Amino acid sequence: MKLLLQNGRVLDPTTGELVHKDILIEGQTIAKIGTDLNAADPETEVIDLSGKFISAGLIDMHVHLREPGFEQKETIETGTRAAARGGFTTVACMPNTRPVIDSAELVKEVIAKAEQAGYARVLPYGAITVREAGQELTDMAAMKEAGIIGVTDDGVGVQSSKMMKEAMRKAHSLGLPVVAHCEDDSLAKGGCVHDGQFAARFRLKGIPNEAEAVHVGRDILLAEDIGVHYHVCHISAAQSVRLVREAKARGQKVTAEVTPHHLLLCDEDIPEPNAMWKMNPPLRSSRDREALIEGLKDGTIDIIATDHAPHTLEEKAAGMERAPFGIVGLETAFPLLYTHLVLRGVLTLAELVDKMTRKPAEIFGLPYGVLAEGKPADLTVIDLEEERTIDPDTFLSKGRNTPFAGWRVKGWPVLTIMNGKITWNQADTALTFGE
Ligand code: DOR
Ligand code: ZN
Ligand code: ZN
Repeated sequence: MKLLLQNGRVLDPTTGELVHKDILIEGQTIAKIGTDLNAADPETEVIDLSGKFISAGLIDMHVHLREPGFEQKETIETGTRAAARGGFTTVACMPNTRPVIDSAELVKEVIAKAEQAGYARVLPYGAITVREAGQELTDMAAMKEAGIIGVTDDGVGVQSSKMMKEAMRKAHSLGLPVVAHCEDDSLAKGGCVHDGQFAARFRLKGIPNEAEAVHVGRDILLAEDIGVHYHVCHISAAQSVRLVREAKARGQKVTAEVTPHHLLLCDEDIPEPNAMWKMNPPLRSSRDREALIEGLKDGTIDIIATDHAPHTLEEKAAGMERAPFGIVGLETAFPLLYTHLVLRGVLTLAELVDKMTRKPAEIFGLPYGVLAEGKPADLTVIDLEEERTIDPDTFLSKGRNTPFAGWRVKGWPVLTIMNGKITWNQADTALTFGE
């Protein structure tokens, strides 16, 4: 199977400018990137992309696909369809399912289901502790054998320093990164929003910055001698950014991710106590948000990841204090970031794309994220001019929980190709691939 993408524009790696290119895909590989490529072979499918932007397929290192156990919120199929629509070709999924993904058998099940669905490459994380209960380490070696790319108890922090230290030793011996949801329960328990202006105004119990930052600091200390790759999930507090910056300056192998919502929103943007704005970590102060942008720009924060966390509308209707934490992100990440960071001059297009493609692949050692001849044919085609209103009713995800409904944004993915196969084509809404 050959696919020729004509008249698209790609980022020139040396200048960061957009240049016209044609791309020929043969099977699962990018065969050629050039100018005036023609379909020599009549079997070749030709797609005219005149003027559209072609990036390497987007990578999201933090999503919740909810299978097994929470299929009412999302399934691997609906979650990966949402990923494809959002321009993502690779997603790494979190183990806080029911049962928790804490064994090789469950890892294999997730991989098999994802392959069957076929809409995105799914890389599973395994849990650090059995049932994410914080008491006993999982069989990381067996899970690695089954295909995990790292270990995490995302959803909860690992409360015991001793447990975390042992986990780091074990993960390091296996060459696995430790991916941490940083949250000290003794500081965070009972809070539902950031301990700041909004919490005070509505008399809600707050989650302070230190609930995150003490874990970041503790873990950096624990990891220092062990030498393990330590990755901070959804960094949100200015103090955490400072700690990661200092660790990097000392040469420690510490990386961090930030979500689109923490980059674009702060607690003062929350209009009223409404669980569409509830996630963990919470939206912090505008000063924290500025520190995240600065950290992203200076390389302290390596990548952008969505923390796509679908919940049902019934669950979210329980209100700010009782609803579960989390918002969806896969179908809105790129246009939101393009509109609010690139078009406003905060990041260049090349910087944004780098943090969603090459960089995540680099820090997790994945063979994706680069648009080059001989590489896997993972591509995302984006219409940088197309402007649309975010409408949760159109989501392919089962989750509709987003605070961004109604936002008008530019830069929508229109065609996604994973391993040489079209996984999302806006022009063809009756897409039946994978069925
Ligand atoms: O907002 C969040 N949602 N934060 C988490 O840590 C967990 C996630 C979820 O699983 O819903
Ligand atoms: Zn988390
Ligand atoms: Zn998460």
